[in-house]
Amino acid sequence: MCGIVGYAGPRRAAPILLDGLKRLEYRGYDSAGIAIGQPDGLASVRRVGKIQVLKDAVPKDMAGAWGIGHTRWATHGGVTEANTHPHCDASGKIAVVHNGIIENYRALREMLVKEGVAFKSETDTEVIPNLVAKYYNGDLEAAVKAALAHLEGTYGIAVIHADEPGRIVGARNGSPLCVGVGDGEMLLGSDVMAFISSTSRVVYLNDGEVVALTPSGFKITDRSDRSVDREADAVTWELGAIEKDGYPCFMEKEIFEQPDSIGRALGGRLDQENATAKLGGLNLDRRYQRAVSRVNVIAAGTSWHASLVGTQLLESVARIPAQAELASEVRYRNPVVESGSLWFAVSQSGETADTLYAMREIQRKGANVLGICNVVGSTIARESDGGVYVHSGPEIAVASTKAFTSQLAAFYLFTLHMARMRDMSRAEGERFLAALAGVPDKVRLALAARDRIQAIAKKYSRCRDFLFLGRGLLYPIALEGALKLKEISYIHAEGYAAGEIKHGPIALVCPEVPSVFLVADDPLREKVISNIKEVKARGGPVIAVGVEGDAELEAIVDDFIPVPKMDCRFYPFTMVVPLQLFAYFCALELGRDVDQPRNLAKSVTVE
Ligand code: G6P
Repeated sequence: MCGIVGYAGPRRAAPILLDGLKRLEYRGYDSAGIAIGQPDGLASVRRVGKIQVLKDAVPKDMAGAWGIGHTRWATHGGVTEANTHPHCDASGKIAVVHNGIIENYRALREMLVKEGVAFKSETDTEVIPNLVAKYYNGDLEAAVKAALAHLEGTYGIAVIHADEPGRIVGARNGSPLCVGVGDGEMLLGSDVMAFISSTSRVVYLNDGEVVALTPSGFKITDRSDRSVDREADAVTWELGAIEKDGYPCFMEKEIFEQPDSIGRALGGRLDQENATAKLGGLNLDRRYQRAVSRVNVIAAGTSWHASLVGTQLLESVARIPAQAELASEVRYRNPVVESGSLWFAVSQSGETADTLYAMREIQRKGANVLGICNVVGSTIARESDGGVYVHSGPEIAVASTKAFTSQLAAFYLFTLHMARMRDMSRAEGERFLAALAGVPDKVRLALAARDRIQAIAKKYSRCRDFLFLGRGLLYPIALEGALKLKEISYIHAEGYAAGEIKHGPIALVCPEVPSVFLVADDPLREKVISNIKEVKARGGPVIAVGVEGDAELEAIVDDFIPVPKMDCRFYPFTMVVPLQLFAYFCALELGRDVDQPRNLAKSVTVE
């Protein structure tokens, strides 16, 4: 979603802000702009469309050593230049960029209109610079604080004033903001990507905090205006990890990175000596863990699909009742939070608003909520009571791939850990551990079907509807396959439990609607084969992802994609890979913008 970048230092701000905006592109946006302080006032350039369009419009030698920039993902008001940030007050001396939603903006706007302010956009944001102007008395920080007292809703903001060279004031309430600490220069960002090319030292703000920064330092104050001392953290992501590395786009790179990223998620956590998993960040004593009687998981999108696999696994392997729910539903349905229940919030970005607010509600009811996050220092990671980092490295493509398989790895580790505390024998623990350790290699082998998958995608990419079908642990993988295809190719796809098609979806089956079946060599295989025959009997084309060497399956389907044989509990890792590649190649065939699909945002920080 929207992204913020700010710079104050000795260098020319424009290229630094544009570089930051480029790196924030992955969040999803539809327009972008910058405002830069110059000796004779603020200069601002805003454009609808890609950062390149903005870059082309910014004068090559644009002067000014402090400024702010923004990528906007429209919420209030259409995608127009007038609605693009930064927004200025009526005098044009104050510029603001804002992520989040000001819920009471209508009342504030009416009040300001009565006071003679003429508004130029339809946004909720434009009330902020005008409120700051109303309270400005030579001190930008004080004026911002006075303005914030009127705002209801969520915000991460950055504000500059033409008369206060080198100063940027930022504030956070519900939308992430962090300071990049450089040498003789300071930066601001909605996440570390905004300034990663300039510094790898970061200070995260908490809700209710305001930061005032200049090239030489920064000062944070909390809600009660007390000053906050906070050390900088080191960003561990290498700059190389956020480059395409010769791949045409990030999604392909991230799909092919999975053997390594899963390896990182497992790294140091396989305890061979005790045939269990070591998860150092759970922050729960053993007796508490032993007494857990239920696991509930909240998540959104792809993270929810990983959670559906994880909870099924916990029930079947560790014999703990477990359920995964959509965070956006949990948040508003007043869930029963039993004592003895352990909760997880699963989120790649660690910033998804629905997941974060659901997590806070569960914590308020007294339960422990652990995080399974990728982004270190993200809000969910910081506010959870403990958890597991999945260490995928930065995931830039909007459609999640490597974070998904690393989230699976976290669930498999947690399941092993819980199972070994209960009824799983040492011998069974060793088998599970060996299979888990072997996952990166199996995923590498699954990736070898790349060319075959590309050819199949070419054959089917003009179809307008698809069904994705699986059972048991592969049912969530069918959901994920359908989601991937929808997200990046805009082809309509539905994921279903294969046994459910006869209750409705089979009505869709015809020569124009292909079905993608996931078939493991598990006890459900025969049942899935029957489902395939039902589809074939009605003229529906069938693509099957199955186990290498399954000649019987290969003979009855139109197209077959093999994955290597493994312990059947682990197929979610390998069977998702062909579905990721299938979606990817269909999107390429159709000429879609794979990394930044229309209307989608990488981290959805508003409801
Ligand atoms: C957005 C993204 C999805 C992602 C979901 C949850 O909708 O487009 O790819 O799965 O958010 O994100 P999270 O960061 O919480 O895992």
